[in-house]
Amino acid sequence: MTESDRSQTDLVRRRYDRVAPIYDAMEWVAEFRFSTWRRDQWDRVEGDEILELGVGTGKNLPYYPEGRDITAIDIAPKMLKRARRRAEKEGVEVALLEADAQDLPFDDNSFDAAVATFVFCSVPDPVQGLKEALRVVRPGGQLILVEHVLSGLPVLHSLMKWFDWLPVHVWGAHIDRQTVKNVERAGFSEVRESPLALDVVKRIEARVPTESGA
Ligand SMILES: C[S@@+](CC[C@H](N)C(=O)[O-])C[C@H]1O[C@@H](n2cnc3c(N)ncnc32)[C@H](O)[C@@H]1O
Repeated sequence: MTESDRSQTDLVRRRYDRVAPIYDAMEWVAEFRFSTWRRDQWDRVEGDEILELGVGTGKNLPYYPEGRDITAIDIAPKMLKRARRRAEKEGVEVALLEADAQDLPFDDNSFDAAVATFVFCSVPDPVQGLKEALRVVRPGGQLILVEHVLSGLPVLHSLMKWFDWLPVHVWGAHIDRQTVKNVERAGFSEVRESPLALDVVKRIEARVPTESGA
């Protein structure tokens, strides 16, 4: 990781720590919509060993499938603290760790699936983060994301480009990311996208290639 990536990562950590106390309140209304996507997302997750990247305040915890071994990481300690509180309150079993998605502290092929919701908009080097997901998920395993991405609709595209600086400065998220392309760039195969809201919020599903290419 370059010095500039490191300082960007520190900045993102500080920004999420800063918004942690109001993060759930900020998204309170949107959560009516998000909760449907979260439930659907976790219904699709395959395998026993699952990694959630960028768990934040733990909004996905209520949707975790039962009987799986789930590890969840985040870079911002104050977001994680809230996730820990939620796990205790709701009696959800999950290993919560402070870690950087760009440099995961796990061996190769440790998981059956990696899951994230609204995370690769904030990771400073998203392709590096996705390469790490590719490394720690076994061949044939699953990547499943819900992400907001840069719209292809001309007016919206321009607005998202012009105003990208705003959310970046407030809490650290970009609104001009091309996450479907980034998933392909990282080396995943069978990349599929499904629109959830216009062409801005998408479910992205992909597989870690197997040696046979299957
Ligand atoms: C927009 S929030 C989404 C939180 C949660 N996934 C949700 O759906 O509510 C993005 C989260 O990604 C985390 N994040 C950003 N960069 C990260 C990185 N490099 N490694 C791990 N987590 C990161 C932030 O700290 C924040 O908690």
